[in-house]
Amino acid sequence: MAANKITNEYDRKKELQEFENTKLGVKGLVDSGITRVPRMFHHPPETLFDLNQGDSRGEQNCIPVIDLCAPHQDLVRGIREASAKFGFFQIVNHGVPVTLLDRVVKAMKGFHELPPEEKMLFYDRNWNTSGKGVGYFSNYDLFYSKAASWRDTLQCLLGPVSINPDDIPDVCRGEVMEWETEVKRLAEKLMGLLSEGLGLPADKLKEVSYVGRASLTAHYYPHCPEPSKTVGIASHTDPGILTILLQDQVGGLQVKYNDKWIDLNPVHGALVINIGDLFQIISNDGYKSGEHRVVANSSNESRVSIAVFFNPGTADNLYGPLAELVSHEKLALYKQFKFSDLAMRFLTKELEGKAMTSHFRL
Ligand code: OGA
Ligand code: NI
Repeated sequence: MAANKITNEYDRKKELQEFENTKLGVKGLVDSGITRVPRMFHHPPETLFDLNQGDSRGEQNCIPVIDLCAPHQDLVRGIREASAKFGFFQIVNHGVPVTLLDRVVKAMKGFHELPPEEKMLFYDRNWNTSGKGVGYFSNYDLFYSKAASWRDTLQCLLGPVSINPDDIPDVCRGEVMEWETEVKRLAEKLMGLLSEGLGLPADKLKEVSYVGRASLTAHYYPHCPEPSKTVGIASHTDPGILTILLQDQVGGLQVKYNDKWIDLNPVHGALVINIGDLFQIISNDGYKSGEHRVVANSSNESRVSIAVFFNPGTADNLYGPLAELVSHEKLALYKQFKFSDLAMRFLTKELEGKAMTSHFRL
């Protein structure tokens, strides 16, 4: 049919640019009253098949929730086992007041729900190269990916230099700064436990070169009118060392295990921890960078999640399997490379299906 032909040949680039020019992201589309997901967000049949298959979803409660106040050896073992098996776990009793976590979620929601004319002032997908410490955008890979995803994002750089507080939007300034202190303390603690889990001294990985660079990424997943046509975030692994994720109670995060997608159900007051590609590499596959995704939000309430990504502070050092973890019995599985090479590959490609580990594997 002629009508079909025209829609099949739609001008994707033009549609992306028009969306970009609104500076209001997916939330802007939803606020405009749309009831269908625009075509630029439609994911290809293989992704949707994987998404909508009954038996590929729904395994419950198998990603461990770990009590950080457990006896030390139990704690080290629990974290090691979860990191080797899933690359994911949740932590409770982590010492951060739950009231602070709730305030951080609320403040980030507050940013994404600012009046359009205020929020659009922060729209900048090139904030990282333009020298600013903060930027808001929709889909960092919008112009690289086959299909866009149903979410918007605010990002703030937390290290190696702390962000200038004046650059942080008023609505979340205090909470970003409070969370920065707590999340860095937690990352140090976790790096110590994860080092011990590999049989290394606790301070081996705390060195600033492993977790010196951090960025806070506050995602907003608005209600999606056709959640079977798109995703919240396409399946991927995180490129860096470690991610600490604070999510609200809406849910939608899934982790791949044995070719099945497992729901990572929200636990109020808990934090989600996951291993990144670089940690898998330096651990010589002792730990696993878990593949994950977020389904499009079918709930009427918007979903908020705040990921803090910890990356090496010195991107131009060489990284590879740690010498202590390589032997005649266990040869190095990866070559040495600069983190800046890995980061560049990550940032200039689409997110979907990406794991950097295969690229550096020997
Ligand atoms: C990410 C991510 C998960 C979430 O930002 O890399 O996987 O729940 N986020 O938002
Ligand atoms: Ni991720």
